[in-house]
Amino acid sequence: MNRMLTLNIFRYNPLDPDSQPRMQTFTVQEYDSMTLFIALTQIRDEKDPTLKVDFCCRAGICGSCAMVINGRPGLACHTQTKDLPAEITLHPLPFFQLLGDLSVDTGSWFRKTGLQIEAWCHSDDKAFDPTADEMRMDNDLANEIFELDRCIECGCCVAACGTARMRTDFLGAVSIMRVARFYLDPRDKRSEDDYYDVIGNDQGVFGCMGLLACEDVCPKGIPLQDQLGIMRRMMAMHSVKGVLPRPLIETIKKKGCCHAHAQS
Ligand code: SF4
Ligand code: SF4
Ligand code: FES
Repeated sequence: MNRMLTLNIFRYNPLDPDSQPRMQTFTVQEYDSMTLFIALTQIRDEKDPTLKVDFCCRAGICGSCAMVINGRPGLACHTQTKDLPAEITLHPLPFFQLLGDLSVDTGSWFRKTGLQIEAWCHSDDKAFDPTADEMRMDNDLANEIFELDRCIECGCCVAACGTARMRTDFLGAVSIMRVARFYLDPRDKRSEDDYYDVIGNDQGVFGCMGLLACEDVCPKGIPLQDQLGIMRRMMAMHSVKGVLPRPLIETIKKKGCCHAHAQS
């Protein structure tokens, strides 16, 4: 039998000097296949049109509807109410700037970090030639890159990250994964030195505490920890270049220090 759901929702308008952070309770009749997104839309349609919630695709693609659902970051459109208890508590994602109620600005953070890590192919080509043949790429490598390109920039991994909560300049697992994506791409001509400058520091791989929260909450199941581990080992090896004998470094690399397809 479908339940009566109680939703305790964080309310606050940072632009209104009279607004005070508080929790507001709504009740919604559950029905089969109801998602949290539908429950929130129903509240907005029938009870309070001022409730701020972001959404766009309703299909787990745009990343807008991320919020903290009973203490855990997740997507409202991908969460079925039948998988939750009858009492549901919703907060906005922490870390990002609050726009109001459950709405936060993830876009500015992703744009800032994307520029910081220079998240684009650094090619030698001086000009784009639309008449040139397409560059061929090994299928396995293309799939490996595609796997890392599935991120929808929802921000759940950053919101769950203890390091990001302690230091606002931390790039987060998602940025390190994006660097790994370009490191794999043979069209990106950056050297290990270039990558080291971007993530070989406490804002990057050496700030991560490796407690896995990011991967646990990623709604797309992206293997963030693998990428963090690979990039951390790669950067650590780079930092001891000239200290450890070269044959030892080569031996460690052969034992799986780097991506199978990465540039040597
Ligand atoms: S493993 Fe690293 S990046 Fe992931 S949540 Fe923990 S500290 Fe953050
Ligand atoms: S890596 Fe996963 S959790 Fe992080 S922003 Fe991308 S899709 Fe969201
Ligand atoms: S509305 Fe697009 S991911 Fe939920």
